[in-house]
Amino acid sequence: MKKLITTCLLAVSLSATAQTHVLDVNTKKIGAPVQSTMYGLFFEDINYAADGGLYGELVKNRSFEFPDRLMGWEAFGTFEVKDDGPFERCPHYVELRDPGHGERRSGLSNNGFFGIGLKQGEAYRFTVWAKAPQGEAQIAVQFIERATMEENQEFVTDTLTIASGDWKPYELTLKSPRTIDKAQLRIYLVGKKTVDLEHVSLFPVNTFKNRKNGMRADLAQALADVHPGLLRFPGGCIVEGVDLGTRYQWKNTIGPVENRPLNENRWEYTFPYRFYPDYFQSYGLGFFEFFQLSEDIGAEPLPVLNVGMACQFQNWDDENAHVPMDQLQPYIQDCLDLIEFANGPADSQWGKIRAEMGHPEPFNMKFIGVGNEQWDDMYYKRLEPFVAAIRAKYPDIKIVGTSGPDSEGKMFEKGWAAMKQQKADLVDEHFYRPEAWFLGTDEAKARYGNNCGGLRYESYDRKGPKVFAGEYACHGRGKKWNHYEASILEAGFMTDFERNADVVYMTAYAPLFAHVEGWQWRPDLIWFDNNRMFKSVSYYVQQMYAQNKGTNMMPLTMDKQPVAGQAGQDGLFASSVYDKNTGEIIVKVINTSKQKHPVTLNLLGIKGERTAQTITLCHDGMDDENTLDQPEKITPKQGTLQCEAGQKNTVLNDELAPMSFRLYKIKK
Ligand code: AHR
Repeated sequence: MKKLITTCLLAVSLSATAQTHVLDVNTKKIGAPVQSTMYGLFFEDINYAADGGLYGELVKNRSFEFPDRLMGWEAFGTFEVKDDGPFERCPHYVELRDPGHGERRSGLSNNGFFGIGLKQGEAYRFTVWAKAPQGEAQIAVQFIERATMEENQEFVTDTLTIASGDWKPYELTLKSPRTIDKAQLRIYLVGKKTVDLEHVSLFPVNTFKNRKNGMRADLAQALADVHPGLLRFPGGCIVEGVDLGTRYQWKNTIGPVENRPLNENRWEYTFPYRFYPDYFQSYGLGFFEFFQLSEDIGAEPLPVLNVGMACQFQNWDDENAHVPMDQLQPYIQDCLDLIEFANGPADSQWGKIRAEMGHPEPFNMKFIGVGNEQWDDMYYKRLEPFVAAIRAKYPDIKIVGTSGPDSEGKMFEKGWAAMKQQKADLVDEHFYRPEAWFLGTDEAKARYGNNCGGLRYESYDRKGPKVFAGEYACHGRGKKWNHYEASILEAGFMTDFERNADVVYMTAYAPLFAHVEGWQWRPDLIWFDNNRMFKSVSYYVQQMYAQNKGTNMMPLTMDKQPVAGQAGQDGLFASSVYDKNTGEIIVKVINTSKQKHPVTLNLLGIKGERTAQTITLCHDGMDDENTLDQPEKITPKQGTLQCEAGQKNTVLNDELAPMSFRLYKIKK
């Protein structure tokens, strides 16, 4: 074996004489297609993923609609919160009046989400709806830093003239001379004349794709960089709400942002030990933006709608918490109208709104999820009329049902049986499980049954609905946070998706985003603060799969068995695919054991020497993770390896470091 470049430092082996494992890749057998929806992303507004995260808005409570109207703001001088503003569904605004002495000031400061992050040299667009009922007036708009040792708190100030007595939008651009994580936006009255302010907003000019109501550029780019096949939105449990009144309602999230009503965010209080009383959904990142984002990042959109049920975890078997069967029609109509919103002609009732929002062409939505993580008869019976109505009007739309929160067991089986009976196209499975489950150890099988770990999908019925592994992550036992070991186990488990591409059509790690100061749930794929972000090791695992998913299955075996960490396989997991577009054989091998292993890849069906491109994820510290300060501590490294001309076929000899993931690409 000639190793041209090795990029992974091999950790000390516990065994000097490990057996060489021979993996046969049958390059002649090009199998079932890998779906273009592999591998996907799941977005939910949890951990401040939307407001305060991906959504570029920097002002919290911009419309003064939080139940405490001035939450997020500090108001000073003479002011009043009024409720007869120009936007019917967001009627509150603030009036600033002369405080009665030349040196006094009336105004407002906004704290943003854990402060306002500004970057040196970047421009920020301040917009406001305002009126000056006593005639032309002025406001000052400033960036300030309170906790500063500098002479001046304010470091940028501009003034805005409010010319009209009628409500009108105003705009100015401020440039920040420095990078600061926790600035404030301050606005105050200049002169004596009253000013009314509504929908006070601040966005970076540089949003993703430069959209005005846009996404934070670095976070959206990180999504695009996965090359995701799918974007599921808007959740998760927020689809359901703790009660029906707080469920996610997509119709409230479209049209002018100024008139989108506020909703509670159930993650505000779900975990009392991570309580964020200021966590709401502005719906600024709404369904139009989700569809547009899907398009921008090249992902198939998968909206999920409420099935007439509030979150079952909060309401268990209380039938009364859910919509009575004879009152489901508005919920069903929401699904039908959504399809028209996404795909209907620009002159249809809902397609017209999409066109007015700037997208006359259809979004070409193909999938709809009905219900998030529901279980039992309460769900199955409600789903039925949804399926009937969608099939009748839109027979081409694929319906995604759910098998509930468990990845196995009675209720899971019951869910699958119901989905089969109702002919759902896909079933959304969720599994947040410990290490042993991902490895499929005997201990895990004793606890969870045979369906865990490396050979989960081999036994699935090929004739029934397809699988959407819609939420999953390795939650280390006693280590429920991001760490290297968990990511490697996820990588091993994911070979099963690849081996079973004829039944696993969609997948998504969960959750996607977390603000370091505002999280409720760990682990997550991408972490950020107000100015920085880092991609977790799990992110890189997802990316390695998504960018190298190939177009077709290709069989890979060891002693004629699938390589899935089974007895005698020394913790190895492996799968292979073929990419028709590039002519590459792509092999993924994961060593989940704590010792190095020599391996030989037998590339049956091809001959002669070749060069293999490799991508390797390898690290010594099992509890380590990337951080804001060291965002690239653990990243995949590119390399090459020489394949030999074996007697019968091309052969690649390699040695896999303990707890590592290596991907090989060889031209056929
Ligand atoms: O991903 C976090 C939560 O986990 C989702 O909201 C829910 O679907 C699941 O229980």
